[in-house]
Amino acid sequence: MDTLTVRPAETRSRRRPALAAPRQLPAFTPDLAAEMAPMFARVQHVITPMEWPAYAPLIKAINDLKRERNAVILAHNYMTPEIFNCVSDFRGDSLQLAKEAARTKADVIVQAGVHFMAETSKLLSPDKTVLIPDPRAGCSLAESITPADVRMLREVYPGVPIVTYVNTSAAVKAECDICCTSSNAVKIVESLGVPRVLLIPDEYLAKYVQTKTKVEIIAWKGHCEVHERFTAEDIAAMRAADPGVKVIAHPECPPEVIEASDFTGSTAAMINWVTTNRPRKVALITECSMASNVAVEAPDVEFIRPCNLCPHMKRISLENIYEALRDMKYEVTVEPSVAAKARRAVERMVNLTN
Ligand code: 13P
Ligand code: SF4
Repeated sequence: MDTLTVRPAETRSRRRPALAAPRQLPAFTPDLAAEMAPMFARVQHVITPMEWPAYAPLIKAINDLKRERNAVILAHNYMTPEIFNCVSDFRGDSLQLAKEAARTKADVIVQAGVHFMAETSKLLSPDKTVLIPDPRAGCSLAESITPADVRMLREVYPGVPIVTYVNTSAAVKAECDICCTSSNAVKIVESLGVPRVLLIPDEYLAKYVQTKTKVEIIAWKGHCEVHERFTAEDIAAMRAADPGVKVIAHPECPPEVIEASDFTGSTAAMINWVTTNRPRKVALITECSMASNVAVEAPDVEFIRPCNLCPHMKRISLENIYEALRDMKYEVTVEPSVAAKARRAVERMVNLTN
């Protein structure tokens, strides 16, 4: 976090000037309702007719501003349905969003996610203007470890490579050898060809990876405040209520939750599992918005929503995305000497998974 700078910029886009005056949001007129009816038809089982008149003018204004600014919105799978389905250009898990940030031709990236994701975009797209709609959108895992902690680990475990989960600040990544995400952690650990690695900062992801590899994993004690709250008793209760239910969990969950599940994977892998296997009923052991977002693609599947909200992801709204694009705020930058080292760790991962 100490290298993240956010600034409400008059405008930071070198190629696209700021709009001369703050624009007015369009009203929800019959014409606007008619123009946006096809979009509403696609999302009406996750957005209510009561909500739509409030969302539609913002959606229209955001999509117009994106064209004016030559901007793209990268939305994490935990975004609310109106963001995920109606304004985002690319959706995905952390790895997919990082890859998209590296290849986009847009001048401006709006990160609809948390700020370690915005920093990763900036590392991979240093010439682009990267905006985060709310700079307070953090992550309990990123907060759990500092660069000084990583330097201490290097002293305690000399010669042992350090793999950092992408859910860390750029300053922490700069101290590590290689990055990983929940979708490639096993592959990254095994790619190093050593008997022992440190995998920081998520203790539960590290324990999950340990069940999949012979490489000895040394963990840190960081936890995701959303996933650590699920318990094996929650899953037993779901199975007791409906023995046919399929349970799929994110690897940030505690080990006993993962053991009690039918499948474990990144948010993208979870979506893929549901859309491919089409279970009659499924419980997604992860953040609340995932069920709504997968439901658009799999309307025939019934979702149990055990549902823990990520308060950081939920800081991102249509309102602040609109303000971000209107006022070109808040720009995310990474101090160059830190960025050079952090980029190496992220690029090493991206190259291994391409
Ligand atoms: P994914 O990379 O699986 O999307 O996970 C990111 C995250 O923050 C999950 O809590
Ligand atoms: Fe961080 Fe957990 Fe929120 Fe993901 S769900 S951003 S790991 S706090």
